[in-house]
Amino acid sequence: MKTGDNETPPAEQLADGMLLLHSVLDRTDQEALVAALKEVAAAAPFFTPRMPRTAKPFSVAMTNCGPLGWVSDVKGYRYQPTHPETGRPWPAMPALVLELWQGLAGYPHPPEACLVNYYRPGARMGLHQDRDEEDFDAPVLSVSLGDTCVFRVGGTRRKDPTRSVRLASGDVVVFGGPARLAYHGVDRLIANSSCLLRDWLPEGGRINLTMRRVSRPHVTPV
Ligand code: SIN
Ligand code: FE2
Repeated sequence: MKTGDNETPPAEQLADGMLLLHSVLDRTDQEALVAALKEVAAAAPFFTPRMPRTAKPFSVAMTNCGPLGWVSDVKGYRYQPTHPETGRPWPAMPALVLELWQGLAGYPHPPEACLVNYYRPGARMGLHQDRDEEDFDAPVLSVSLGDTCVFRVGGTRRKDPTRSVRLASGDVVVFGGPARLAYHGVDRLIANSSCLLRDWLPEGGRINLTMRRVSRPHVTPV
């Protein structure tokens, strides 16, 4: 895994505070991460989130690991400590996920939520901001696995211009500083661009992990 000082991955600055790190995970790391996510999904099955109010289903299936998980249903978007269907706590974050955060986040506290998005072929995600967290000081770290996607990024206002960039399996995007609240979304997948997920998910597609700090770290007053 290329997160150490002398192994800095090739980085592309997409915006002030937004870095695309290519090939942070090599094929062996990607396979290890997929094996760990298979266990996560066995304990916390993928569910279909729904839009607040309209109850329209997302095309992306989701699950989570870590102390908190992001969910969406008619009542709204939120973080909660349990799976919306099984009622059980989310499984722990795999060690590899925590190592990625430690190596790349530049933030002294651990992530509290790791959202696992599964894009079947044809799935997409509309332009949005990640703003259900209390703590915007920590970056959001996003890891891509499986099919390449066309990722759209803009500024911090919906009307700001956007650009698209391809995210391949093993790439990591860091949204930090002025880009922490940047609009982003997934226009489409490039079909059959990877076979990484085939043994697990026969339709193939793409998995994206986003690690987030949710609450402000507790600071003891002096
Ligand atoms: C997200 O914004 O939750 C997912 C982004 C991605 O799939 O790359
Ligand atoms: Fe997001």
